[in-house]
Formats: sequence, structure tokens, C-alpha cells
Amino acid sequence: MNLKEQFINFFVKNGHVQIPSAPLIPENDPSVLFNTAGMQPLIPYLMGKPHPEGKRLCDYQKCVRLTDLDSIGDKTHHTFFEMLGNWSLGDYFKKESITYSFEFLTQVLNIPLERLAVTVFAGTENIPRDETSASIWQSLGISPDRIAYLGEEDNFWIAGETGPCGGDTEIFYFRSNDEIPQKFDPKDDRWVEIWNNVFMEFNKNADGTITELPQKNVDTGMGLERVVAVLEGVLDNYQTSIWQDVIAKIEELSHKSYNDAAPSMRIIADHVRTAVFISADYAGIKPSNTDQGYILRRLIRRAIRHAKKLEIDMNSDWLLEIAKVIIKKYENYYPEIKANQEIVLEVLKDEAAKFNRTLEKGLKEFSKLVSHLTTSEINKDEAFKLYDTYGFPIELTEELAKEHNLSVDTEGFKAKFKEHQELSRTASAGKFKGGLSSQGEIETKYHTATHLLNAALKIVVGPDVHQKGSNITSERMRFDFSCNHKLSEEEKEQAEELVNRWIMDDIPVTMETMSKADAISSGAEAMFIEKYADIVNVYSIGDVSKEICGGPHVKHTGELGKFKIIKEEASSAGIRRIKAILE
Ligand code: ALA
Repeated sequence: MNLKEQFINFFVKNGHVQIPSAPLIPENDPSVLFNTAGMQPLIPYLMGKPHPEGKRLCDYQKCVRLTDLDSIGDKTHHTFFEMLGNWSLGDYFKKESITYSFEFLTQVLNIPLERLAVTVFAGTENIPRDETSASIWQSLGISPDRIAYLGEEDNFWIAGETGPCGGDTEIFYFRSNDEIPQKFDPKDDRWVEIWNNVFMEFNKNADGTITELPQKNVDTGMGLERVVAVLEGVLDNYQTSIWQDVIAKIEELSHKSYNDAAPSMRIIADHVRTAVFISADYAGIKPSNTDQGYILRRLIRRAIRHAKKLEIDMNSDWLLEIAKVIIKKYENYYPEIKANQEIVLEVLKDEAAKFNRTLEKGLKEFSKLVSHLTTSEINKDEAFKLYDTYGFPIELTEELAKEHNLSVDTEGFKAKFKEHQELSRTASAGKFKGGLSSQGEIETKYHTATHLLNAALKIVVGPDVHQKGSNITSERMRFDFSCNHKLSEEEKEQAEELVNRWIMDDIPVTMETMSKADAISSGAEAMFIEKYADIVNVYSIGDVSKEICGGPHVKHTGELGKFKIIKEEASSAGIRRIKAILE
């Protein structure tokens, strides 16, 4: 049994229900590009909404964090990683949570007690020091010398700027062959954090105030890659069983050994894995120059550049071969990897073909540029030319420049880029930081309007219309659906009219919880059926619409106001996109 399976077994045995990983691309949360923690899709339930699967949950979760993108290439960082987590939604609290963690580590993983240490929350002016957790740890045999109290910086956890949060206790493992010091020093990096148990009892509001949540929750997270490295006794995450096959494949393709080319091999391994997961996600992200599509493009292009550096044959199917190793490794854990593998390979193949056409010339242009430089900076026009003519993401130019001890006028490039594109790319915005948007009143309305539009299009365009994605901000809704033609003015008008008629009818919106099988046989529409847990919420709008959905929704359609389509356009092949507002 591998660690993922051991973890799930243990928590299921202890009364938890395993839930599927949420998608990497968050639905209805435009403030973050990717899911960064297992708790993110659970926010409504941490805030008090009953979860259809109950109060004790566990999962392994796909996460992408971009804050460490520049560190990829070292031994311990990843852009994509898996997080193991267990939750109590208003059920057990500190005692059980700490005891479960302790039992899992010492009895299932057989980690010796003397290798463990913990930190607990030292408290703030308003929140008391967490003596409860400390005494629970002591009762389990952790000596007071191995318990450190740390403040808000270290032991208070929140996903972004606002939302559910609380003090945490973090578990550390002594990862060195040196003699284990009796006293735990959290600054000594031979101690590595392996598990974070957050006691989510507060909510941080937009105005900065902290209020108590209606219930006390537990949210834990254990980074799989790191813990596997610890258990396998290696200091380099990329030398664990997780990466063995992938690295072996890169060695084979490059005719080089890992020891001679580790940084580039790690970048290739990491970036191809993340690209596979992003393009396999049901949102259907394709490489582009904005948002998630830009990240996908950047990762693939950077992997290609490093493959070239390793002299891998650019005319071979090297990228697909690596991707296939990754697909094989994960397909039994993530149904979308299996279901969408052809799409993934297609995305990688197309993007590689595009970049291959210009990479060689671009690198020549770069060398020429370097040889003519009279300063140590690549100016904005040169950086823009590399971007515009040769498809070099600015970060790639920056990386190349760094290898030549040069800098890049990135600010100037961005200004020029904006001028040319008139659209702001997310890289410069705060989106990477991972704030959470609230499901406010207006977003809730748009959410319900999405169901009405979906139903209207099925009538106007045909029953083959299916939702392919949606994105909601407080200003508008965006709805992607399968359809092979541009909608006529008449079709748009009819759809709009239908939605408005249903709004006028003030139809009640109701929710029922049932098994996934019952939901499907009752005719409920589901965007991506594999994605849902076995027990689901089904939202009905009279006889108009019935969909499996996490909510939230308004109570009556009359709350929506007037619905108006503002744009209809192509999204990708076979998929159209409607933007609409509520007035
Ligand atoms: N949500 C917590 C984390 O990501 C457990 O570390």
C-alpha cells in the first residue's frame, strides 16, 4: 500500500468519508487561478453549511502553488503537488485530531517517537496560547522539550486574505542521521514540517476583523511528496519512488545521468507533470496568453527549453513519452487523467510544435543580442521581440538572462505588452497570492442564472448543449457550452427571453441530497459526473432545471432581476462562450 492509500484507509477506518479531489481550476472563484489547498473547495462547509457526506471527510487533493515557481529545479519544490487531508466539520476538535495524527505517524507509518516534535500556537492579544494542544501532545508522550510555541506568522493558517482560519499545530520530523537533539529548535532545518493541523474556529472578514465561526472545524494537510521523501530517507524529493520512472525516462531520452543534470531534469519532470494535470482538468484549459492558459504555456515552454539544454532530440516524441509515464502513474487515482489523456497529449504536442518552430531561432537571436549588448540589461524592446516573434514568455527571457548574469527590463516589457495587447495578463496581478473570493449575494444570483441559461440553451439550441465551464465574478457570468455554430441573433434573443420569463415566474429553487446514482437516474444534469462524491446535492428550479451542483443558489428565481446576454463568442473548437449580466 502506498502512503495515499494508507492515509485514506486510516481515516476511513476512523469514520471519515473519502471525497474526490476538487478540480485544479476552481469553479466560481475567479480570485485564484488554481486550487492551492484541500480546504478551499470546502469553505462553505467550514462556514457551517451541512456537507452531504457528513462531518468527517478525507481526501488526496490536487494542488498547484505558483509562489515557488522560481525555485523549481532544487530538491524540494514542486508546482503541482498532492496534499493528504482530513477534516472535521463541526465534529471532533483538538484532542481527536492530534490523536489521529499521532496514531497514524507512530502506528501506521511506524515513525519513532524520538524523531517527532511539534509547534503549537503561542496566541495573540485576543486569542489565548494553545495550552490545550500542548497538553494533548504531552499526554501522548511528546516531551515538553519537543514542543515549541510560535506566533501568528508561523502557526496561524488562512488560505488567502479572508475566510476560515485558526491557530494550528505543526508536526516535524528529524530528517538527519545526526544525533537527535533533545530540545526541538524549529529553526534547525534538520527538522522538517510534515503535517499541519489547523483548528479552524474563526473567520477573517473583509474589514480585517476576526469573528467566531458557527462551528469548530479541523483542517489538516500533509504534503505527499515531502513525506514520501522523509519516509524513504532521501533529501531530494525527485529521488523518491514518486519520480523514479519519470527521471529514468528523462535520463534515457537525454543520454545523461541525473547526477550530471539534476536541475534541468527536475524542471522538466515538475513542469510536465503540472502541465498534464492542468490540461486534464475538466475546465479544458489550453495554452494561451492569459490566466491558467498562460501558466500552462509557460510551463510547457520552460520544460522544452530545458529539454533542449539537455540535448534531447526535439524532433522525437520525447514530451509525449514523459507525459505518458506521468499519466500511467496517476490515472488510477484521478479519473480525469484517464478520461482526458488524449486531450492532454494533443495539448502538449501542439504547444511543442508551435514553440519548436521558433525556439531555435529565438535562442540564436538571444545569443546575438548578448554579444552586442553594451549594458548588463536586456531592454524592453528586445524582451518584447523575443516574446512576440519567438514566443519566449518573459520569465523564460529572465531565466536565460540570469544564466548570463544579465537583467531584463521586465517592468518596461510589461508596459509595452499591455499597450500591445490591451489586456492585462494575470502574472502581474495579485492572483498568484491565492486570495479567496466570497460567495456574495450577487455571485449566488449569477450561479442560479447559469442553471437557467443552461436550460434555455437546451431548448433553443438543442438537447446536445452541455455546460463546459463557468466563471462568475460580481460583474458578470461566463458560460461555456458545447455547440458547433455561432448563435444567431434569434437564438440569443430566445434564450434571453426564456431566462427572463422563468425569472418573472419566480420559480422556487430547491435542493435535495441523494446518491449520485439516484441523481443521474432522476435526470439531473451534471457537468462532469466523475468529479462528484457518491452523495450529491441536486438543485431543481421547478421543472425547468435539475442539476448536480455544490451551490449556493437563491431561493426564488424572482431574486435575479433582468438577465441580459452581452456577448457570444467562440471559446475553443466546438465550444461557445456566453457572457451575461443581471441588471
Ligand atoms: N490548509 C492547511 C494547509 O494547507 C492544512 O497547510
